[in-house]
Amino acid sequence: MNQDGTQQVTLNHMGRHELLDFFEPRFNDDPNLVAFTGATKISDGLFQITENPAEPGQYLMISSPEFTTHASGDIIRMQAEPGIPADAIVLEQLNADNTGFYRHPLALSNGDLISSHANDNQFLFLLKELQQNGPNWSTNQRLTSLQGGLWELSPVEVKTRPRPTVLPMDPQLPNIEKQIFNEEGVDIQSFKQYLEDSNLALVVSRNVTTRDNADRQQPFNLRIADSTTQTLGSAGKIYDLSDIQFLQADHIRSGTYSKPGRRPLAQFMHDSAAIANNPPTNGPQGSVKLGNDGSMAAFIPAGRAMTWQTLAPDGSPVVRERIWVTFQPGEIRACTSCHGLNTVDQTGNFGPTNPPEALRTLLHFWKQNNGGQNTENKPPIVSPITTNIIDVDPASSGIQFYEETSTLILVLQMTLMETLFHGSGFILLMAALKFHFHQGTEPSQMQPLLIR
Ligand code: HEC
Repeated sequence: MNQDGTQQVTLNHMGRHELLDFFEPRFNDDPNLVAFTGATKISDGLFQITENPAEPGQYLMISSPEFTTHASGDIIRMQAEPGIPADAIVLEQLNADNTGFYRHPLALSNGDLISSHANDNQFLFLLKELQQNGPNWSTNQRLTSLQGGLWELSPVEVKTRPRPTVLPMDPQLPNIEKQIFNEEGVDIQSFKQYLEDSNLALVVSRNVTTRDNADRQQPFNLRIADSTTQTLGSAGKIYDLSDIQFLQADHIRSGTYSKPGRRPLAQFMHDSAAIANNPPTNGPQGSVKLGNDGSMAAFIPAGRAMTWQTLAPDGSPVVRERIWVTFQPGEIRACTSCHGLNTVDQTGNFGPTNPPEALRTLLHFWKQNNGGQNTENKPPIVSPITTNIIDVDPASSGIQFYEETSTLILVLQMTLMETLFHGSGFILLMAALKFHFHQGTEPSQMQPLLIR
């Protein structure tokens, strides 16, 4: 991840195929899709990861079960400097089995290794130095002499060092995508500014029929419906794709009042600026059409956990993104496949290099909407407010505020028979005004926009 939060990715693209020992296939009626069994030593998760200052790119962490050990377990070391493909990364356990419970391993600049350690399930964690004995490391002596049974956790090395230089962000799009911007006469900087002003990001993939070779748990015989584009990893069932659908995490209040608070739940993308800017489609909510070349391009809300899935022509999901990814305002994210290849795709080829046609379609539509390049200070086009109401507070009627990313929506509404329906049934929308503003905008500069 860049220091400005763009280009979020796990370390060297590692995912469940590299880290888990078992997970189920996506469909159970296709013999091509098999359960995954890996050879990893990881318990439920990896925690307390630190980089070795003496060997940048080398990481120490704890493999711990979810419960019962207070996030302690075995020390895992991995070599994952930039450029090593995820499937070539080796995880090794440093300590011998059954030598107690480790937490917070820390490599020091002089090469020493220390860790918090408990001998047994009384879990008295004390800081100890580690020493190598043959292939394994074991605890040597305590580093402190404090008495009293308090845990000693989270050691840090205190050391003077020069202030690190700020790494340059990488604003460069790959040439293949850049070329489409050039051909369409869209200046990338102004486009990014537009995204930033609208609190949007742009995601692009070149060919979502190409999949990482390791993933035999989700379909990998994929074809774009009504086109000649297909990527087949084996004989057997072929899945047609026509759209890609985005889901955004909304904080939604629990259905019952006995459980207060909100939780992030996946909702089909309804962010009004994203929907209004995406090329129109008759497809399911939050979806965009895939290009005939297998490409996708979509505006999505920034600063919000997002996920997505490719869809068959009947709207049923086929391949699912398996994690939440968050994008920054103004970020343009170009991915090649579904998902990023460790090395090769399901046919043994390296990543696709086609210019993604869906990006061209999207830029065409965007230009029509925004009168070409001159987009500065234009508010995003808004879609009907009905798609934005995600959480109606039953207690209120009259004036309501819905906060939607950087946009505050003021809805004047009349609620009929409020007591009977707890404000949830009939809502007569009389007028809706939408203000688009960013933090720091003077009230006098806010532009109300009548949208309904
Ligand atoms: C619909 C197919 C699909 C598309 C398209 C896709 N991915 Fe993924 N992605 C996956 C799957 C499946 C995984 C899980 C892989 C695993 O856990 O081994 C994944 C994992 C990830 C991860 C975590 C693992 C890692 O590699 O860091 C990130 C981050 C991610 N995707 C980002 C993206 C971005 C950014 C794009 C392009 C905008 C993208 N994905 C496009 C299917 C997809």
